Amino acid sequence: MRPGFVIFLKGNLGAGKTTLARGILRGLGYQGKVKSPTYNLVELYNFSRLYFYHFDFYRFDDPIEWEEAGLREYFNADSICLVEWPEKAEKLLPVADLQISFNIIETGRNIEILAGTEAGRQCLNDWQALKHS
Ligand SMILES: Nc1ncnc2c1ncn2[C@@H]1O[C@H](COP(=O)(O)OP(=O)(O)O)[C@@H](O)[C@H]1O
Ligand SMILES: [Mg+2]
Repeated sequence: MRPGFVIFLKGNLGAGKTTLARGILRGLGYQGKVKSPTYNLVELYNFSRLYFYHFDFYRFDDPIEWEEAGLREYFNADSICLVEWPEKAEKLLPVADLQISFNIIETGRNIEILAGTEAGRQCLNDWQALKHS
């Protein structure tokens, strides 16, 4: 992942979206507490010169207020944005570089990752190369 990245996390309540967000933040070196943005809709993490926004649009019900509050400005070239429940704010959001869909299965979670942009495809290719090295 690099600055500018947008990731959508899709799946039912309890599917593991916040848990993965937490894992990504840990992987990037963030050591503080990671809470679910369910009530605030967005949490900001500013570390290692990175702006990392974690959204949860489950309770999103006022698109006009958010548009006026500058929602689109969060999605800029210097920030990484992770979005739970993107389908609830779809019209206001940019295209995702990666879309990760979660399904609960007996043995854990099944996830499907789709790249929506060239940067997303590059990220998946790099990841595959890492896995096989
Ligand atoms: N891959 C996983 N395997 C097993 N349990 C998981 C996994 N991901 C999340 N959980 C558990 O499921 C519960 C809900 O996860 P959470 O990430 O809050 O879901 P969501 O944000 O999609 O609503 C938590 O108790 C979490 O520990
Ligand atoms: Mg969640």
